[in-house]
Amino acid sequence: MSAMFPTTLCGVKLESFICNASGPRCTTLQELEAIGNSTSGAILTKSCTKEARDGNPEPRYQDVPLGSINSMGLPNLGYKKYIEIIPQLKKFKKPVIVSVSGLSLGDNLEIITALNKTDVDLIELNLSCPNVIGKPQVAYDFPATENMLTQVQKVCKKKLGVKLPPYFDMVHFDDIAAILNSHKVGFVSAVNSIGNGLIIDPQTERPLIKPKGGFGGIGGKFLKPTALANVRRLYELLDRKIDIVGVGGIESGVDAFEFVLAGAKAVQIGTAFMQQGPKCFERISNEFESYVKKKGYRELEDFRGKLKAL
Ligand code: DHB
Repeated sequence: MSAMFPTTLCGVKLESFICNASGPRCTTLQELEAIGNSTSGAILTKSCTKEARDGNPEPRYQDVPLGSINSMGLPNLGYKKYIEIIPQLKKFKKPVIVSVSGLSLGDNLEIITALNKTDVDLIELNLSCPNVIGKPQVAYDFPATENMLTQVQKVCKKKLGVKLPPYFDMVHFDDIAAILNSHKVGFVSAVNSIGNGLIIDPQTERPLIKPKGGFGGIGGKFLKPTALANVRRLYELLDRKIDIVGVGGIESGVDAFEFVLAGAKAVQIGTAFMQQGPKCFERISNEFESYVKKKGYRELEDFRGKLKAL
């Protein structure tokens, strides 16, 4: 194994800044153990809800040349099961992060209150799930986000991060940054998939996935420029005490390098992890190492956020 690049997220040490994203291959104990056995810098769970869920009807995930589309519908074991297995995950000696995606404010408060009493290292509160029918993405509703964070910070005793959707308007970057800067948020993970895309198979004249008439979250290469822009703008607008985790279309060491240049302290791998499995972390890490060594850099802080002007 080659050198890894360590980092910290709100003071929690990660031996590698390259981690799994919540979503793919992180629902069951077996999948989470496979992440524990990989070089992923943390073990991040599938977003959990109050009750276990089977999720949406299949097919609900498809790869395409430029990425992926999914409408999983939050299949997960329910938060109590994730709490039960935290001690088994802690054995891998890396931070354990539980992604929380309650279907209501009350559910989020219940889940976070229960997580307070565990050894979980970080909580990633998902405000950006696009795939539950009838449930809008919270983080596109700024008053709802403000209220969610105000209530959550009253109960949360753990270090808290927020998973954001992609924003596409400069004013929206200002709006979300103002809310994050005025709440107790330790990190942001930017970004979730682009919600409600549609990919059509012209041969069969059908959508690629079944739920919601084929509408689903778009990940992979499609997402990278949007994700980089979100990381960069948030890096410019957020207080320095809020760390940024870059996620969206990272599949190579050079992709990871670009996210660090934009300002990310860690990166998460979603679609590439789904496609390639846990060995992708070491490959991306090796590619990153050889690229930054060639540039003469030794550690992330040598170039993090230092995107040059044209
Ligand atoms: C699902 C998809 C997401 O993008 C997310 O943030 C949470 C859940 C899903 O469909 O399971």
